[in-house]
Amino acid sequence: METVILRVTDGSSDEEQRALQKAADCIRGGGLVAFPTETVYGLGGNALDAEAAKKIYAAKGRPSDNPLIVHLATPDEAEKYAFTTAEYYRLAERFMPGPLTVIMKRREMIPLTVTGGLDTVALRVPSHRTAHALIRASGVPIAAPSANISGRPSPTGFPHVVQDLYGRIDAMIGGGETEIGVESTIVSLVTEKPCLLRPGRITPEQLREVLPDLTVSSAVMGRYEGAPLSPGMRYKHYAPRAAVTVLDGDYAAIVRFLETKTDAGKLCFDGDAEIAAMPHALTYGREGDPLSQAKQLFARLREFDDDGFITDIYARMPSTEGVGLAVFNRLVRAAGFHIIKL
Ligand code: TXA
Ligand code: MG
Repeated sequence: METVILRVTDGSSDEEQRALQKAADCIRGGGLVAFPTETVYGLGGNALDAEAAKKIYAAKGRPSDNPLIVHLATPDEAEKYAFTTAEYYRLAERFMPGPLTVIMKRREMIPLTVTGGLDTVALRVPSHRTAHALIRASGVPIAAPSANISGRPSPTGFPHVVQDLYGRIDAMIGGGETEIGVESTIVSLVTEKPCLLRPGRITPEQLREVLPDLTVSSAVMGRYEGAPLSPGMRYKHYAPRAAVTVLDGDYAAIVRFLETKTDAGKLCFDGDAEIAAMPHALTYGREGDPLSQAKQLFARLREFDDDGFITDIYARMPSTEGVGLAVFNRLVRAAGFHIIKL
């Protein structure tokens, strides 16, 4: 398939307006378009069109029981697609538009193909200008998983999208690096109490300001046992081709351990001078700054693969405080939960 490449930075020029219109026409016509959001790049199709959803699963190589997030231009449009609740509006008022996805009971308009057969639907209102403009211009809600081949690290830069999906979809909109770098926080409102299913830029502490009884799914910290609340929890995720191991322990012990691993990739923090001086070392942000880690983690994991010779990656473990919880959650999944205590 010939993939059309479009560039939209702020959407202000006539040329960028035409590009957005072209992308919107494509979505309305049942095609697939990759586009930037504030979290990661998404792979979008008309969320009211079951055939478009099937194309999304095929392009990503994604199991069709792993449901898609439906992206809206404004929070109140949720009325048309879900049975909203007071809790939804409390979340919407505080966090939308922004990096939050809310799961509610589905209305009939959303095809079961989009929800992976579930009677619930995940809704999100992105704050990114281009994402917002595309949804607006399309005139339909846009179903969009992250724009990566299933299982790989999510795309935080346009070259990642090209690498994974060029030739597999109709169009892609390039718009620079994404600001947050990890996917949206997901909250379910169909569980007994509101439940955090996937951590992101919006932290449990922030969510509790409007949902004091929020619980955190056991899948957030560890491997999920039992019936999945979110089917995506079952699959190996975010993984580069090289095998990742997370190192938990004090800095001196980690340095000693890594000195014996000459050929391995090493993922450390800015300022880890001893590790950074070793071969195949990359940094992913400052130690006490989870926002900087979130922004860089997926790109760094992909960089080790680009090297071509790296078969093992050892990564320093992030703190689980605040946004660190999201960084930890993605990294341990990339590692298949393989953590060494030193
Ligand atoms: O930031 C994001 O959310 C990005 C951008 C593109 O918006 N999208 C994204 O989509 O991360 P995806 O498909 O990579 O992750 C969606 C997650 C999956 O784990 C899926 O299982 C879960 O959301 N999900 C979707 N609908 C659900 C539902 N009805 N019930 C439970 N989990 C659901
Ligand atoms: Mg994904």
